Amino acid sequence: MSKSDAIGAAYLVAASLFIIGLKRLSSPRTARSGNQIAAVGMAIAIGATLFDDRVVTYWWIILGAIVGGVGGAIGARRVKMTAMPQMVALFNGFGGGAAGLVALADYHDTVGAPGHVEAKIIVSILFSAVVGSVSFAGSMIAFGKLQDLVTGNPVTVPGQKAVTAAIFAAILAGCAVLATGHESQALLVAVLVVSLILGVQMVMAIGGADMPVVISLLNAFTGLATASTGFVLSNNVLIISGTLVGASGSLLTQMMGKAMNRSLASMVFGAFGTAGSVALVAGEVGDRTVRSAGADDIAIMLAYARRVIIVPGYGLAVAQAQHNVRELGDILQDRGVDVRYAIHPVAGRMPGHMNVLLAEADVPYTQLFEMDDINGEFPRTDVSLVIGANDVVNPAAKNTPGSPIFGMPILNVDESAATVVLKRSMNTGFAGIENELFYDPKTTMLFGDAKDSVIALASAVKAV
Ligand code: TAP
Repeated sequence: MSKSDAIGAAYLVAASLFIIGLKRLSSPRTARSGNQIAAVGMAIAIGATLFDDRVVTYWWIILGAIVGGVGGAIGARRVKMTAMPQMVALFNGFGGGAAGLVALADYHDTVGAPGHVEAKIIVSILFSAVVGSVSFAGSMIAFGKLQDLVTGNPVTVPGQKAVTAAIFAAILAGCAVLATGHESQALLVAVLVVSLILGVQMVMAIGGADMPVVISLLNAFTGLATASTGFVLSNNVLIISGTLVGASGSLLTQMMGKAMNRSLASMVFGAFGTAGSVALVAGEVGDRTVRSAGADDIAIMLAYARRVIIVPGYGLAVAQAQHNVRELGDILQDRGVDVRYAIHPVAGRMPGHMNVLLAEADVPYTQLFEMDDINGEFPRTDVSLVIGANDVVNPAAKNTPGSPIFGMPILNVDESAATVVLKRSMNTGFAGIENELFYDPKTTMLFGDAKDSVIALASAVKAV
């Protein structure tokens, strides 16, 4: 077997491990090992690449591996669960930036021999450069918005759409000149810079609240840019892994949009959860009263219930109450209560947010139910315990045409015999709209930080 055959075989193994890893990520039960399997695939891919004859020096690779590896490991260890979306944005941006830089470097090498830039190569170089740069710049702005370094409000220039179209046309014109035989590194750099401007302009115009979907979209862009870089470098594993990222990022974007009942166009071109939203203001819900109670009263409801469904939301992540929730669930179960956890697909701020939190607290997977599997159970439930969730249980999604979330599938907690909501105030959630559930006569509010409230409930239930 020749060296290049051996490298090809290693790439095939690596690509297979990526696919197996990705498949295992689809369930919380197997996700951890899926991640490890994909990491092994990546180690094999990197190891095999080191034997490529085109590698001229190892020093830069070692330096890059140290900087990237140490930065990635420290970042991943230190990041708080609530800051995960911006971490993903940052890592994704680096991927896009790398694709753009590789395209630039490859063009630099190729134009050394005038007239030798093949059409298929130049098209791949241009694609990587443009898409990678848009993804890099867009991801950095998304990171800035989520980290509060850049305003979360949409920032547009006068004639936003026309300006975007003009920038896009300028990029296409530059690419057309380069693709039709005119060799100019300066022009490629100019195309790259204008692509960066396009990335900034596009994402600045989107509200901070829509960033998770934007990041998923940019993730798909990075995947495609990387796959294109694979064509430039004749590297199969890059083509396969880039395509996997492109496909999964696109699917994820589509699924998030569906779960939020929003089209991609409305997310990219319309603000949500920001000043532009059509919010149901307090006045419109009238002067209805809100029932609230202390932990002792609610503990009695829970302790004597036959079935309790716990509905976690973003507030659970903020309060980091997952371990305490599990403890409360265990205490109830020991008393013979049937305890289940209902997971809405977009609860929290990133896909799988609640699954990750509850898995961290070792909540048994058998108690976790996806929305479609548990929604029919609410009418047979004594108490729905909503912990830091708001939009995902808002009946306006079913009952109020014109509401920004109308049509979004929700967890039907309003169909249970009683609902208890743990949150700090009457504040709105992500979508910035009132929640009629809080005024429902069957609803009791327990105000306070979710962690404090759950701890108080656990000790009160023990005392019942
Ligand atoms: P939200 O509707 O955002 O509501 C969270 C609630 O938690 C808030 O009303 C807040 O009320 C409460 N809260 C915050 N900190 C708390 C704490 N320390 N203790 C107790 N309560 C606390 O959350 P949700 O129901 O999970 O819905 C998710 C929203 O995010 C949806 O609109 C969804 O479309 C959107 N979104 C999700 C994703 C993904 S992929 N998950 C991506 C983009 C957007 P107080 O301030 O009164 O406490």
